[in-house]
Amino acid sequence: MRRPLVAGNWKMHGTRASVAELIKGLHALALPEGVEVAVFPPSLYINNVLAGLEGKSIAVGAQNCAAEPAQGALTGEVASSQLADAGCTLVLVGHSERRQILGESDELLVRKFAAAQASGLTPVLCIGETLEQREAGQTIEVVNRQLGSVMDVLGVEVFARAVVAYEPVWAIGTGLTATPEQAQEVHAAIRAQLDAEDAEVARGVRILYGGSVKAANAVELFGMPDIDGGLIGGASLNADEFGAICRAAGN
Ligand code: 13P
Repeated sequence: MRRPLVAGNWKMHGTRASVAELIKGLHALALPEGVEVAVFPPSLYINNVLAGLEGKSIAVGAQNCAAEPAQGALTGEVASSQLADAGCTLVLVGHSERRQILGESDELLVRKFAAAQASGLTPVLCIGETLEQREAGQTIEVVNRQLGSVMDVLGVEVFARAVVAYEPVWAIGTGLTATPEQAQEVHAAIRAQLDAEDAEVARGVRILYGGSVKAANAVELFGMPDIDGGLIGGASLNADEFGAICRAAGN
């Protein structure tokens, strides 16, 4: 059985005051047994969140890491080894905002994925199609290419220590959610791609859905056989809403 994971991606949101408020709210949550919970604050606030959530079983991850694990002369970047040293256990790799707005390529993301694992972090590889690609019938081809770029270079085994997040770009921050059936179809295709290389890895890997997940639609989405939790954007900035989504994963 795969243990569900619900992860909150705070993106570039927060001030010292609002982060303190959110930490307080998260601390007070009654979290369900058997669900792993994680948050990804802006790197500036990672230390505050780690300190503030001490004793609470919520993991803390970063939204990005450098393509090399070691410290070095690379102005503005944070090394995966530094994230691990701070106490992070996870890192997002290839969020569509970084692919699209910052131009991160599949090749660069393979290096970030490897750097994360070299530092003992669990990469959460984000993949997903744009609206144009969906309308052109290219959804499966696109996610297969994004996943394949990592698998081809690093091997299928790396997914024994990674998480995949399917986030259709058209559903991110738009209020449009993939239907549970639409999401399930893509999740099944992702798992089938892994299964073709290694059945055990495919069975074990968690595939999260992301894109306008709220408490109101989480139960249906998480009820699908290949959806193992969610990567939550906007709704994760509200502790009560996020808690309700975590409980939906425990049902
Ligand atoms: P929203 O939940 O705000 O649509 O964002 C999803 C997302 O991009 C999480 O990484």
